[in-house]
Amino acid sequence: MERRRRRPLLPGLAWSSFCLLLLLRLLCRGAAAPHNSGAVAAAPLLCNVSLDSAPEDRWKPVLRHFDPEFLRAAFFQLIDEVVPKWVHAIIRPLAEEIESFAPQPFAGEIRGLCQALGLNVGDGLLLNLAYESTAFCTSIIAQDNNGNIYHGRNMDYAFGDILRKTTIDVEFIKNGQVKFRGTTFLGYVGLWTGQSPHRFTVSGDERDSGEWWENAIAAFINRNTPVSWLVRTVLSDAEDFEAAALMLSKTPIIADVYYIIGGTRPREGAVITRRRSGPVDIWPLDPLTGGWYRVETNYDHWTTPPPFDDRRTHAMKAMNATGQKNINLESLYKVLSVQPVLNKLTIYTTVMSAAAPSKYTTWIRNLE
Ligand SMILES: *[C@@H]1O[C@H](CO)[C@@H](O)[C@H](O)[C@H]1NC(C)=O
Ligand SMILES: *[C@@H]1O[C@H](CO)[C@@H](O)[C@H](O)[C@H]1NC(C)=O
Repeated sequence: MERRRRRPLLPGLAWSSFCLLLLLRLLCRGAAAPHNSGAVAAAPLLCNVSLDSAPEDRWKPVLRHFDPEFLRAAFFQLIDEVVPKWVHAIIRPLAEEIESFAPQPFAGEIRGLCQALGLNVGDGLLLNLAYESTAFCTSIIAQDNNGNIYHGRNMDYAFGDILRKTTIDVEFIKNGQVKFRGTTFLGYVGLWTGQSPHRFTVSGDERDSGEWWENAIAAFINRNTPVSWLVRTVLSDAEDFEAAALMLSKTPIIADVYYIIGGTRPREGAVITRRRSGPVDIWPLDPLTGGWYRVETNYDHWTTPPPFDDRRTHAMKAMNATGQKNINLESLYKVLSVQPVLNKLTIYTTVMSAAAPSKYTTWIRNLE
């Protein structure tokens, strides 16, 4: 969190959430890693989005489940707090033009959502770009003794009061079949978490890229892809684990990130460390030499996480205590419920296994 203080992005909020997190870490230090203590979990709304409908129309059935006044108020609060004023001032007048740089279906979906809610399309686009570098997360992939692959993630983010209420699981339907599934915040058309059934699962974790706005907007205009849009494109287009891993490694994106990918067969799993232009490192599962799981939070795996945010060690301890023979979606959920892997910023936990797509499960978390 330290680096957030340097950013002009969220001055007040960043400092207070930094303090909150620091306090939380101090309070949790030395605690006996209780499972699930004080945590409240609820299932999110499961919705269908039809890829056979026009992009402008396809989210309308989902919007019907929500109070438009609440969504509008949430939207204004987020845009105000998340998008720096200078970015907003410079970019908003160019919105229509910038929208022409956004590929389909993303541009059409954002346009449709904004029109349905009576919001400015440029603001909607900015908000969709704005989440890019602010997701603090933990992702874990693991292989059990029988070669089954499991993938879990915690999504940690500020604005929990809004985002817990707008977290949805979405099945993207094509020709009457579930083409892919993901978890997102309503209004946000990219995916940080998703599954292509019987093929692969993907999650994204923030990788710090400093003063990212200037470079990100330039990269976007240069037709690099927002990080979460690439996840969705890969879920939609990649034929198998290998093709997905390749696309996630090589496609130019607008911010640095960690992509975590799991497949359906033994050893199909990796953490891909990305810079905008390409891969920095690929860290595969390697069960034969003890690497039966990989934990990625928000730090390069070859470095030591800062002591005030060492979710990695807590997650590894819990994985070690669980053991390879006992790992499954339930035990992985328990690992993701150990504090501070689970913390006050955790919005949701998803566990998934591409070989058993119906087991995809998300819980909205609210650590009291
Ligand atoms: C979503 O669509 C699928 C496939 O058409 C269908 O089986 C399922 O019942 C739908 N789910 C919801 C929540 O409407
Ligand atoms: C987990 O187990 C591995 C293998 O025995 C060991 O190298 C690692 O230090 C352990 N990590 C923690 C945090 O306990």
